[in-house]
This record gives sequence, structure tokens and C-alpha cells, in this order.
Amino acid sequence: MSVARPLPHDAAPLHVAGKARYVDDIPVPADCLHLAFGMAEVAKGTITAMDLDEVRAQPGVVAVLTADDLPFANDVSPSVGDEPLLATGEVHYLGQPLFLVVADSHLAARKAARKGKITIEAAEPILTIEQAIAADSHFGNGPSVWTKGDTDAALAAAPKRLSGKLEVGGQEHFYLEGQAALALPQDNGDMAVHSSTQHPTEIQHKVAEALGLHMHAVRVETRRMGGGFGGKESQGNALAVACAVAAQATGRPCKMRYDRDDDMTITGKRHDFRIDWDVGFDEAGRLMAVDFVQYARCGWAQDLSFPVADRAMLHADNAYLHPAMRITSHRLKTNTQSATAFRGFGGPQGMIGMERVMDAIARHLKLDPVEVRRINYYKPADGHLPAPTPPVPLEDIVGDEHDDLASRGAQGAGIRFDSGKGGARAFRAAFSPDRPDAENTTPYGMEVTDFILHGITDRLLETSDYTARKAAIREWNDNSRLLKRGIAFSPVKFGISFTLTHLNQAGALVHVYQDGSIHLNHGGTEMGQGLFQKVAQVAADRFGVPLDAVKITATDTAKVPNTSATAASSGSDLNGMAAKAACDEIRDRMAACLAELHQTDASRIVFADGEVIVGTERIPFARAAQIAYEQRVSLSAAGYYRTPDLAWDPVAGRGRPFFYFAYGAAVTEVAIDTLTGENRILRADILHDAGRSLNPAIDRGQIEGGYVQGAGWLTTEELVWDDKGRLRTHAPSTYKIPACSDRPDIFNVDLWDGDNYSETIYRSKAVGEPPLMLGISAWLALADACAACGPNDPCLDTPATAERVLAAVKRARG
Ligand code: MTE
Ligand code: MOS
Repeated sequence: MSVARPLPHDAAPLHVAGKARYVDDIPVPADCLHLAFGMAEVAKGTITAMDLDEVRAQPGVVAVLTADDLPFANDVSPSVGDEPLLATGEVHYLGQPLFLVVADSHLAARKAARKGKITIEAAEPILTIEQAIAADSHFGNGPSVWTKGDTDAALAAAPKRLSGKLEVGGQEHFYLEGQAALALPQDNGDMAVHSSTQHPTEIQHKVAEALGLHMHAVRVETRRMGGGFGGKESQGNALAVACAVAAQATGRPCKMRYDRDDDMTITGKRHDFRIDWDVGFDEAGRLMAVDFVQYARCGWAQDLSFPVADRAMLHADNAYLHPAMRITSHRLKTNTQSATAFRGFGGPQGMIGMERVMDAIARHLKLDPVEVRRINYYKPADGHLPAPTPPVPLEDIVGDEHDDLASRGAQGAGIRFDSGKGGARAFRAAFSPDRPDAENTTPYGMEVTDFILHGITDRLLETSDYTARKAAIREWNDNSRLLKRGIAFSPVKFGISFTLTHLNQAGALVHVYQDGSIHLNHGGTEMGQGLFQKVAQVAADRFGVPLDAVKITATDTAKVPNTSATAASSGSDLNGMAAKAACDEIRDRMAACLAELHQTDASRIVFADGEVIVGTERIPFARAAQIAYEQRVSLSAAGYYRTPDLAWDPVAGRGRPFFYFAYGAAVTEVAIDTLTGENRILRADILHDAGRSLNPAIDRGQIEGGYVQGAGWLTTEELVWDDKGRLRTHAPSTYKIPACSDRPDIFNVDLWDGDNYSETIYRSKAVGEPPLMLGISAWLALADACAACGPNDPCLDTPATAERVLAAVKRARG
């Protein structure tokens, strides 16, 4: 078996030796030219004059292009055509590309790009969420509103009610390899493009439009990215199109890579959000209704903001069964970089709103936050916990020994809380048959049938020793004046599938050569997440050959057409299935051929251990391939897959947008210094559901990396724009991503071992994005530490930098 094994990333030796080839490492022809953009220095205005003479006069400059020099489409938008490659008169953000310098070296191009004399009649930019709300500046015809039940009535009827506002910061992708592209002119004006992209087909499409060519004249190849994280779904379009246009204009190869500062200044980031919330609940902490208003700062162009904002709405419930909910989503248009996909794709912003609400309830009722979460969980999937039964009689509950903190205020509601095994019982009590929401559906009307967080929560609380540590921390805090600790648990339920339903398809191309070696290709791209290795494991398993019989090859639009971005964590689900289909087709042909030669039934032929077993005979796989070739059997096949059972109406917000959910939970412990606000993650315990993992080593890496990236988003990674709209944090000197030393000192990561309920490739689950949201527990733990300083809710916004932690400590003290 090649699947389910903890094999290292296929390129790990190359990565660590610095030998893995990225776009910038591809040897270029001697006449290759290099590109740089001249960028806007104001955030909003009208261009009245562009004097580029000095740019043209700089040493090494071969050409300077403006919007007027673009022969065909001047657009690099992935969605609605609102994103000119080069500005056409209006300036929309500080950093916007205005003109393109083509020079004989990277440095010459960058230096010359500074010499433009651009006259801009500046206007007042709209930069912040508050400014955009005040100016009513938004995309679309108004907010998107989805509802479940009568939220207003349920809020009004609720015995308890709280409301608040949460500010959630954006995030720079900080892929180690910056954006890069290389265009190589071919015969008859065709174009070959190497691009660091998650979406080669989109690059092909946009380049074809810009060159006035059909897609068949453009071929895009992507061997690997040095990280994408969503930042290379659409943000690579500009570079690839610029290279192709310049290559067409000059007839020479053209290459472009952004310097880190340019990359951060030009490209879009995670959407920052403001979330206004209003929750109604009962004395036991059971949700009755939530009203969320989400404001997403989308920047100057639409890009992927609508599906991102939709996914934020789709995760506003997180893991909880809501009797009533209203979600209003405003997509704000501002004069900043066009915010884009980032790991989680809006899901993290939606989820953190709900986690904030859960903590507010727990703090208000003085209940253990874990128990408030647990009694609101969706009902469990069959097979993991017994189905809900009628409530436990009161007399069985009162009089039981119970944890002091956890049970305070809960008895009245007839619910027993304890932090260990009592979860199922408390849960059953909570879901008494008189609850109006017996149907276990999300606010968008999808039935949740695979909910396994009850089991995950029980196990994680046990392995992380949550209850005892929480008590110990309380005691420690009582004796510590300046330093405070905090601990928090948070669950993740993340929907898997593209919400634009037609994207849920994939193709693969597999060749078996006559020596038995196998060429594997599919539409997915490799960005470090280990997709290529996982799909290769699938292919090896289908043929029963060792993994090194399978050659992993670069993504290539000429091999597999019409691919979707490698995104939405669906890479292995989609491409694994497509590759399996292609391999099985070839295998079946080989089996049929051998069955005929051996006068046996094809169904009795087994491919295993590098051999093909026909009755008592064991034929080496290479020999079997040779025989099939000589029998004139085609040993090449294209495979195709599309995800079943999806039906989604994004306008109404109703349907079944996801094939299944991925789950996980984390417990994080932190310490803060109440004098400086400095803080550290001391320990994190994670239990994450990767289904029947295709590769537990790679999945563990995804979980660790996702958690740290999520914690970075919510703690140190702060984007600061000044009041002119200039991004002040445009380099690692000012933008602080977590370093190795910032990962938790104690970091326990475990996989929840269980089949995916849905029929995915080997019953595995997507794992790319969901773990990022486990980082929310770090932010909750910081809030918990702040709350230890005083009686009030610290209302900690994100990112929880030292300044914000200090402010929260102050609020807690009152
Ligand atoms: N892991 C690494 N090392 N590098 C990345 O760029 N991108 C993430 C995630 N994990 C990323 C990563 C994002 S945003 C997604 S959508 C998935 O990987 C995409 O790959 P998959 O669908 O194969 O999981
Ligand atoms: Mo990931 S944000 O879907 O590329």
C-alpha cells in the first residue's frame, strides 16, 4: 500500500538542499528581458499626465508600456473584468501598476520604474471600513442577507442578550517565493508561460485574452510554488500577462518577479472584517438567535471577494446548531489593495465572530466556555455517539458532584456540566425534544450528518488535561501579579467544496510506458502542501507498484485542460479521484488483455507488490506493461472527476454547498505580561480530522503550519496603512510573521482516525485550510489571560498585538 503512509514530501530533499526549481530558477535564454511596474504614489485620483521620457532614457531599458500600448484586453481580474493590468486614467490604490518597464535586467527595470513623472489629480481616498460604511462604498447592489428562522422574534424572546463589535485584521500571505512569471514566445505568436500560480488555466485564459489568441495558443506550466496560501489564485495574473504582452511586443522572452516590498505593496491580502453581533440565549448558555453583520474590506477591485464573503457567511455558525440566525454581509469597496483568497477563504473571519460570541456568553454566565460550546454543538453523526435521547431527569443531576466553575448557574436549567466524559450527557439534556431546531441544519439549510466534534472534544480535553490545567492556571493567576496565563478551547467545522459549484471538477493524465514506469499528471498545483506526493501515492496504489515507479510532473495546461484553481482545500479530493479514474482505466485494460492471454476472468487479476498476479503466475508489472503494449493496448488514459451531491443558491443562501465537513479542535495556553502586553503561546494541543489520511506525515505538517499561520494572523501579523493609504508594513522588518521560535513550546498534534462519511479518495479528508482556524484558540486564550486581570470582558480585537493586549487588560480592569 502506498496510501495512508507517512512518507516525506516528494521534493523535501530538494527543498532543504536549495535545489528545488522555482520560476526564478529556470534558466532563461540569453536575450531574456526583465519587467517592473511603475506604481501609483497616491491612493485615489485621476491621471492628468504621464511623462515617461526619463524612464525610457534609463540604462538597459528596452521598452516602456502603458495602457495605450496594450493591443487587446487590459484586464487581469479573475471575476468581473474590473482590474486593468495598467491604469486607464483613474488611480484606485497606492501601489497600483501604472506603466510597465521592460529592461535587460531585473535591477535596471526596477530602478527605471522609479523615474516616471506622473501627474495625478488626487482625490480623498476611502481607506477604512468606517470610511467605506460612511461613504456607502460597496460592491454589488447592497448587502447579502441570509436568514434561518425569525431572528428578531427569537432575539426579543431570549432571556439573555448581549451584543458587541469585533475588529478582525487582514493578513499578508508572505509566501517565501514571491510572485513570478516567465513568458517564452513560440512559433507563430504562440506563448508558453511559466507561472508561480495556483491556477494555471486562469493564467492561460487571461494571457490569451491579452494577446488576442485562443486558449490553444497559450500553454502554462507550473512545477511548484514556494507557497501560495490563496495569494496565488489570482494575484499572479498581472505578472504573467505583463510578461506575455511584453514578450509579444518585443519577440523576446520576458520575466517578472516582484521584489518583496513591491509584492506586499501591489498584491491583495486577507480581507479584514468588522463583525457586529447580537446574541440571544438562555441561562444555560443555549443559543436562541444570533444576528451578525459582517463588513468585509474588499479593496479596489472585486477579485474573489464575493465568494470569500459568502464563505464567511457560511462559517458564521461554526460548530453550533442555531435555532435562528441572520447574517448580513457588506462587501466594502476601498482604495486599498484588492483583498483576495487567503487560506480559509473568509471562513476564518466568519468563524471567529461566532467564537467571540461563545466566549461572551460564557463570560457573562460565568460558565466554562467549553461547556457553552458543547451544549450548542450540532447533533453527532450516527456511530460516534448515541443518538440524542430524552433529557436526563433533574433528580439524576442535582446532587451529583460537579466542577465548581463549570456548573455555576447551570443547575437551574437542568443541565449537568463536567469537563470530561459528561459531554454526551449534557448534550442529550440540551437537545430535549422541545427544542424547535430538531432538524440539525445549518443556517443555510444544509443538514449536518457527519458531525464528530463531540468525540473529538472529549478526547482532546482528556489528552490536553484541560480541566486540571484550567484550575492550575486559575490558581497560578491568583498568585501572579504581573504575568497572567490563559487557556482556551476552540472547535472547527469547515465546509469542503468550491461554493461556485462548477469548479468542483478535475482531470488527470496518466501514461504507463513499456518499461512499467508511470507518468502522472493532473490539474492540481504543488505549493508545498504535498498534493503531488498524495496523488502519486494514489497512482502507485492503483497499479500496486512502488512509489518510485510514478513520475510526478509539472502542472501543464496542455496535458489537462480547463482546471480549477488548486484551492478550497480540494486538491487531493478532486485530483486524487481523477488520477484514480485514469489509473483504473489503464489497469482494467491491462487486466483484460492478460485475462484473455491466460484464459481467465479479468476480475481475478490482482495488481500488488510490483507484480500482476494472474492465477498462480506472478508477472512483474514492467513485463505486464510490455505484454500489453505488444498486444496493442493503449497505456494512456485521461481521468475525470466531479464532486457529487452539490446544490447551492448563493443569492438565497440555501442548499448544499459542501460535500462534507472537516473537523478539528485545539486547546491553547498562553502567557501575557500585563505591563507590556507581550505574550507567548506556551502550549497547544490539537486533534484534527483528516479522515482516513492519505499521508499522516504531510497532514501533520499541514496542521502544524495551519495552526501557526492562524495564530500569526491573530497575534503578531499587523497590517498598517497610513492616512494616505500607504501600506507601512511592506517588509519583514515591519510585518511580523511567526518564526520557528514563536511556535508553541509544547505542541501536541494528533490525527482523529476515522473514515470520511462521504465517499472521497480512500475516505480521506481535505486538510489544507481547516487547521488555520485552530489558531483561533490562541486568540481566545489571550482574551482569557486578559480576563484574569479584572471583572469585565476584555473585548480583545485582532491581531492581538502587545498594544491590543494592553488595551484589553485595561478594559478587563474597568
Ligand atoms: N501548505 C503549504 N505548505 N503552502 C501553501 O501555499 N496553501 C493552503 C493549503 N496548505 C498552502 C498550504 C491553501 S490556501 C489551500 S486552499 C490548500 O493548501 C491547497 O492545497 P490542497 O487543496 O491540495 O490542500
Ligand atoms: Mo486556498 S485560500 O483556497 O487557495
